[in-house]
Amino acid sequence: MAFPKNFLWGTATSAGQIEGGALDDGRTPSIWDTLATKPGRIHNNSTPAVACDSYHKFDRDLKNLIDLGVNSYRFSISWSRVMPNGVGPLNDKGMDYYKRVIEQLNKNNITPNVTLYHWDLPQVLEDRGGWVNRDSIQWFGEYADKMFRAFGDVVPMWSTINEPIATYVGYAHGGFAPGHRNECWGNQARHNILVAHGKGVEAFRALNLKDSKIGVVIDIWKRHALTDSPEDIALMIDEDERNWKFYTDPILAGRYSDYILEHLEKEGTLMKMEPHDFELTGQPLDYFGLNVYNRVTVTRNEQARLDFSQGGNFLNNRNEYYPKAVYDAIHLLHDLYDIKYPIYVTENGTFFEGTEPVAEDGMIHDDDRIRYVAGFLEWLEKAIDEGYDVRGYYLWSLMDNFEWTAAYNFKFGIMSTDFATGNVTWKKSAYFYRDFIKAAIERSK
Ligand code: NOJ
Repeated sequence: MAFPKNFLWGTATSAGQIEGGALDDGRTPSIWDTLATKPGRIHNNSTPAVACDSYHKFDRDLKNLIDLGVNSYRFSISWSRVMPNGVGPLNDKGMDYYKRVIEQLNKNNITPNVTLYHWDLPQVLEDRGGWVNRDSIQWFGEYADKMFRAFGDVVPMWSTINEPIATYVGYAHGGFAPGHRNECWGNQARHNILVAHGKGVEAFRALNLKDSKIGVVIDIWKRHALTDSPEDIALMIDEDERNWKFYTDPILAGRYSDYILEHLEKEGTLMKMEPHDFELTGQPLDYFGLNVYNRVTVTRNEQARLDFSQGGNFLNNRNEYYPKAVYDAIHLLHDLYDIKYPIYVTENGTFFEGTEPVAEDGMIHDDDRIRYVAGFLEWLEKAIDEGYDVRGYYLWSLMDNFEWTAAYNFKFGIMSTDFATGNVTWKKSAYFYRDFIKAAIERSK
């Protein structure tokens, strides 16, 4: 058993997906609250206004975390709850909520791992152009600075941005908030958010916080070509470049690839950049947060696609079962960037679409989820055995929550949320994870 002593075992959530309390105590809407007012954009026209109601029910969450035996919890701060105008004065009541969450976690030896931006831009800032506006770099810098000043001495782990690709999807493809469909905006927004990340790191370093670390969270979905035809190899390269290297390159290598620069230029969608931007994006970090869910297979060959769909190894949710994805991603970070930072798997998990059946014993037997998580942990352990420096694993997610445009239809929790009552009950996978953590910690002693 290779999981080291002091390995962080956690679950992950985010403010916009669990908190609810959308307009309580001075909070203003985020871009997701706004998107939810537009018919047809979110499954069933559901909204995140109540979600798991964690804003009022943190004690419920805390008890579940304690009972699970995790030693860390990854969550995010709702920007518009603590700064209702996006910039300017803090909202005391909103700050009190996080103060209490952090205090309670620390008191129970659960390390808070706080994400500053998990997709929920204050709508007031979107009204000023959002991430397409270069001022967003300053807005985020100010927000980050204020959070570090308030909580820097009680939060040992921070990340600036979670999955910056979501911002591109929100401005270029409309799939996510704020729901725009403009490729130039998408590229500008994703560039700005990467620079904003750097601004956040700069603010963090300026405070010289002794017992706290900063990183960023990027999702890697490695492409695999189903045939070795030149078309499929080209497709794989193209998708790798656009879907994750776009983010890892400026952060881990301090530049965009020639491929991206040339292609965007040719496509007429190249964003405006300033030379100093890359000093910001490429600043040294204390750790790298890796979200990893799967690989993606690509091909232009219909027959190869069909063969794969009939012969591959799939979960009930029709996603491929490929737990080696985590091992591949860790290798990739070393092979491509010779990464020197410790890695934390900041998210990994799988979903059930619709209503998960409850067995006669009253429990949800989510055996597929157990298989998925167990498989990923096995490959993670293999990477650690080989000597790779991985220091934590966070399961997504503690409980079923607002899964963005899929709202309450995609269940990612190891616990089930009754969205009518706010009751949260354990699925079989929660017991599995509890026992796994316990055994791993025992063995590492
Ligand atoms: C990525 C995101 O960070 C999180 O918000 C989302 O719910 C999960 N993956 C599952 O899709």
